[in-house]
Amino acid sequence: MTEARCNRKTDGRDFWCRLGVVITVFVLYLAGPYTAGAQSNAAASIRYDNTARTFRLEAADVSYVLGVNREGQLQSLYWGKRLQPSDPISPARPDNGSSSFDLPVNATPQEFVGWGGGLVVLPDVKITFPDGNRDLVLKYVSYSIQGLSLTITMKDISRDLTVALQYQIDGQTGIVARSARIENHTAAPLTVEQTFAATWNLPANRDYQLRYLTGRWAGEWNLQQEPLHPGKVVLESRRGSTGDEVNPWFAIERGEEPDQDTSDVWFGALGWSGSWQINIEQDWQNRVRVTGGYTPFDFAYRLAPGESLETPKFYGGFSASGVGGASRLLHRFELDTVIPQPHRLRPVLYNSWEATGFDVSEAGQEALAEKAASLGVERFVTDDGWFGERKDDHAGLGDWYVNPQKFPRGLKPLIDRVHALGMDFGLWVEPEMVNPDSDLYRKHPDWVLNFSGRPRTEGRHQLVLNLARPDVRAYVYGFLDKLLSENDIAFLKWDYNRNWSEPGWPAAPLDEQKEVYVKYVQNLYSILAELRQNHPHVEIESCSGGGARVDLGILRYMDEVWPSDNTDPFDRLTIQNGFTYAYSPGLMMAWVTDSPNWMNNRSTSLEYRFLSSMQGSLGIGANLNKWTAEDFAIGKKMVAQYKAVRETVQEGALYRLISPAGSEYAATESVARDGHEAVVFAYLHSSQEGKPFPMLYLKGLDPKAIYSLHVEDGKVADGTVERASGDYWMQQGVEVSLRGDFLAAFFVLEREGK
Ligand code: DGJ
Repeated sequence: MTEARCNRKTDGRDFWCRLGVVITVFVLYLAGPYTAGAQSNAAASIRYDNTARTFRLEAADVSYVLGVNREGQLQSLYWGKRLQPSDPISPARPDNGSSSFDLPVNATPQEFVGWGGGLVVLPDVKITFPDGNRDLVLKYVSYSIQGLSLTITMKDISRDLTVALQYQIDGQTGIVARSARIENHTAAPLTVEQTFAATWNLPANRDYQLRYLTGRWAGEWNLQQEPLHPGKVVLESRRGSTGDEVNPWFAIERGEEPDQDTSDVWFGALGWSGSWQINIEQDWQNRVRVTGGYTPFDFAYRLAPGESLETPKFYGGFSASGVGGASRLLHRFELDTVIPQPHRLRPVLYNSWEATGFDVSEAGQEALAEKAASLGVERFVTDDGWFGERKDDHAGLGDWYVNPQKFPRGLKPLIDRVHALGMDFGLWVEPEMVNPDSDLYRKHPDWVLNFSGRPRTEGRHQLVLNLARPDVRAYVYGFLDKLLSENDIAFLKWDYNRNWSEPGWPAAPLDEQKEVYVKYVQNLYSILAELRQNHPHVEIESCSGGGARVDLGILRYMDEVWPSDNTDPFDRLTIQNGFTYAYSPGLMMAWVTDSPNWMNNRSTSLEYRFLSSMQGSLGIGANLNKWTAEDFAIGKKMVAQYKAVRETVQEGALYRLISPAGSEYAATESVARDGHEAVVFAYLHSSQEGKPFPMLYLKGLDPKAIYSLHVEDGKVADGTVERASGDYWMQQGVEVSLRGDFLAAFFVLEREGK
């Protein structure tokens, strides 16, 4: 068994090494709605107890504890509500199972385990060595702590194959980021056949409920909920990118009747925009293991001597405040830690897609820009159609020159006009794709994903460029850099409209061709990172035919995302509700579009459409050429109203008061970070049997503070009081007065005094 040893970086003095290492970071944050149930001002720390050989990661309201057992295995000991500082942690002990039929290696909850030594639970890593040996048994070697980061090194019992496990705990939310680096220190190449980022172990429990998000084009973000039973649930994308069939997010709640705000919830999300897999396994003892990272499907990664493979990050968190609390932690983490910093509030934007389709021109865009500016829009975005021979979706992708018929003077006159109107300018691109009908494809047919001599399946008449190739990476970065250098562009809508097919890379050596799954995404990230570094003022939106590429990996380079092509304001309520389980409203673009909406041919009022879109980051995608003077008056008023509350909507603490799923009602409330206001949206599908709208019992208010109620257009019941305590609004509630079809109300509670 290898002995624990302190690391040079942290054990300069023997005294500290003997005592164990304590690194504490004081995180001060405002006691606001986000801290509900959290220990505000609590110190964040990573501590190592050298006697018990345990690591204790603590931040906000979370403790995460692991230890090294006598077998040298890294064992999960505790993950949940923060323990008291004096609470003892027993040393890790292998679980011998209940009979000789259970090998301890399978019964012991381990943090990261290789396939070998009798393992039958899902391994985190599986390797084939060149001599045919496939047995891998990892044992603890050493650790190092730096601030709120911990690295633990594991090594195979005989071969020089090491795994560096990385842990980082976020001081504000207690969310732990985990990843692994597989390092080949042997003298020969080897093949990693499967590697996940981490395994999260949850305590044994008989009434866990699993939640995850599924969907399809124009129907993303459906919340699924099911009880966990012994067996396995696999969430996966094999399409080369994140996908919308299922999003790499999960939440597991303890309790037969899950609710929004009170139960214990463990949640996690993968930071990876390629193919992925999350396995949720419950064993016969009702313990749960959640293992996620690269999908093993069609995976192989060759490591030459001295090479290493880094997994994506798998983030995990805990909330004792229900799935609502879990979402609020994730929202805060995404906005403050994941996306590029310092992040800015989302401007109100106009996008031309639904108004013009591919039929864009200088005059047409300018006419729309003038109308958009009159509404108070802050950013004007020209969507698809401006480049190459792009008349429809059959041609042009890959040829990133400005179409001379549509913009004879280039983009500059349009951009200047947009600036003169007081807005900044954004542009649509789809950099990873090529139409076979393009100069680029005619010149470089070998640049796409393909298997030699096999058909190339088109999706939306386009093929996927193989971004793993260095020449393709250089081309894509080059045209984007030129576009941004030559034009005053503040925003890119980065689209990605099809899945992979025939994912071959014929130019690579045979035993490296499957690395395309990893190297493609790494190059995508590196292009985005380089663009952001060289054009720091440019903001980017992740779009993938709607919401098919939203994950914590792409969000490290994105300022916002497009959750769905479905802009029907009623469908959007369900889509937006599902989205917010995993992602912040401050990232979620939502356009007001035309009525009847193209999706369902449903007619709704302009006000209803605005109030639906105001739940996220407001955009307008309607054909303004068709708007009446009255529409402009309503639009102008609502854009101004949105701006007044957008900080609270985008960055506040979201409470889902009534879920739209399967209900004729919906309502949300957002409480400002500093608690000065709460913004409430309520929606009615259609009144039935004269029933009143349910009372809205607000949440997250300061019980003692006095709040005054500001209502638009008298949509609360007659006689509703105008001033009362937080307790009153939370206990007595607000009676919304909505009767009819597709109606919505919006009101603000403003806290008086400090
Ligand atoms: C799909 C996007 O989701 C739409 O918003 C639009 O940009 C089209 N692509 C353009 O082709």
